Amino acid sequence: MQVLNSTKKRVKVLFVCLGNICRSPAAEGILKKMVENANLEDEILVDSAGTSGWHENELPDERMRQHGSFRGYDFNSRSRKFTSKDFKNFDYIIVMDNDNYNNVSKMAENEIEKSKIYRMTDFSNNYSYDSIPDPYYGDSSGFELVMDLLEDANEKLLNDIRDKYDI
Ligand code: 4NP
Repeated sequence: MQVLNSTKKRVKVLFVCLGNICRSPAAEGILKKMVENANLEDEILVDSAGTSGWHENELPDERMRQHGSFRGYDFNSRSRKFTSKDFKNFDYIIVMDNDNYNNVSKMAENEIEKSKIYRMTDFSNNYSYDSIPDPYYGDSSGFELVMDLLEDANEKLLNDIRDKYDI
């Protein structure tokens, strides 16, 4: 529904992880806040999805929500499964780790769709990780690291989008 109502937006970004309850909804909430702060809500659509569908319709993990709230975010999206239609609806499909990359890549039907897939760490500025580590089975330090990496990469992502689309 969000996508159907937002076709006028110029740039559409979809974050993807495994469960869509930790990393990708956090990435979504952080970028949405940056987009709001820049008054670009009419230009940029932000959404997230999971490759598994295991947590369909759930709110983000309580621990992820809490670590978001420590930094002033409200992560409140509902989990959904990534589908091949997402390649048509989005300009950027941004995955968190290698498993996500492989699973999403397998679903791309052509080179144009494949070219829309990015790794979140492609946009890292101050860190040199090659994935956003899955925090689900770890302790609170993992959730803080996710927040640090996502805030850093989203800043560069938004700058790149603004440069590319001249907004
Ligand atoms: P996410 O984390 O992919 O960042 O949402 C996970 C969430 C749930 C599970 C694994 C990772 N799980 O095994 O249910």
